[in-house]
Amino acid sequence: MSTLASLPEGYRAAVIGATGAIGGALVQALQADARCGGVHAFSRRSAPALDLLDEASIATAAAHLREQLPGPGGLHLLVCATGVLQLGPRSPEKRLADLAPETLARAMALNAIGPALVLKHFCELLPLKERALVAVLSARVGSIGDNRKGGWYAYRASKAALNQFLHTAAIEVARKRPLAVLAALHPGTVQSGLSAPIIGDAEATTPPVAAANLLRVLNGLQPTDSGGFFAWDGTAIAW
Ligand SMILES: NC(=O)c1ccc[n+]([C@@H]2O[C@H](COP(=O)([O-])OP(=O)(O)OC[C@H]3O[C@@H](n4cnc5c(N)ncnc54)[C@H](OP(=O)(O)O)[C@@H]3O)[C@@H](O)[C@H]2O)c1
Repeated sequence: MSTLASLPEGYRAAVIGATGAIGGALVQALQADARCGGVHAFSRRSAPALDLLDEASIATAAAHLREQLPGPGGLHLLVCATGVLQLGPRSPEKRLADLAPETLARAMALNAIGPALVLKHFCELLPLKERALVAVLSARVGSIGDNRKGGWYAYRASKAALNQFLHTAAIEVARKRPLAVLAALHPGTVQSGLSAPIIGDAEATTPPVAAANLLRVLNGLQPTDSGGFFAWDGTAIAW
C-alpha cells in the first residue's frame, strides 16, 4: 500500500534539495509509489536550478512547476529537504568564542530564510479544498526546550528560526487551505554528507529508511497538527 494513502490518487509531489541524501531518497520513494502522478525534483543542479540564496531562482522554479501541474492547486506534497550544518571554519561551534557573524548570517540565509522563501513561492500551488502536505526538514537540535548540551549555535538558532517560519506560515495557509498540513520534521540521525563529519560511531539510519519514516509521519498528520514539530517516529518535539 502507498505510504501516502491519505493523498488523492495521482497526487503530485515536489522535493527541494533532491541532490541531498534524504531529498534523493524521498524522490526515489515517491517515484516508486504507483499512486503518485509525478515527482518534481529541484536542486542547484536541476533545470531550472533552485538556489536558496537566490529568491529569483526559487520563484522561477515555482513558476516552472505551475506550468507542469495539471491545473491550479495541483501540488499535494511539498518537501524542503535542504540544510547545511558546516557553515564556516569553526562550525558547528563548540563555544561562544567560535561565533562568527558571517557564519551565523549564512546559517540563517540557508537554513531559515531560504526554506521560508520556498514556502512563499510554492504554497501558492497547493489545492484550496483538498488535502495537501508540506514538510520542511528541521532538526531536533533546533528545539530550545530540548537543548541541554549547548554548542552548535548557528545550526540550532537557524533551525529554531525555520520552525518559527513554518509555524507562522501554517497559520496563514490554513485560512485559505484548511485541509493543508505544514510540519517541521526531524529525520533522526541519518547517513549523509551533512552528518558524516559529526556522527562518528553513532547509529545512523539509511536515507531510504529515513524517507519512508518521514512520509509515514506526514501521511498520519491531520490539519489540527499543522504548524507542529515532529520527529521521524511521529512524536511531537518541544519548541
Ligand atoms: N542527516 C542527519 O543526520 C540529519 C539530522 C537532523 C536533521 N537533518 C536535516 O535533514 C535535511 C537534509 O539533510 P541531509 O542529511 O540529507 O543532508 P545533505 O545530504 O547534505 O543534503 C543537503 C541538501 O541541501 C542542499 N543545499 C545546500 N545549500 C543549498 C542552496 N544554497 N540551495 C539549494 N540547495 C542547497 C544540498 O544541495 P547541493 O547538493 O547542491 O549541495 C542538498 O540537496 C537538512 O535540513 C538537515 O538539517 C539531517
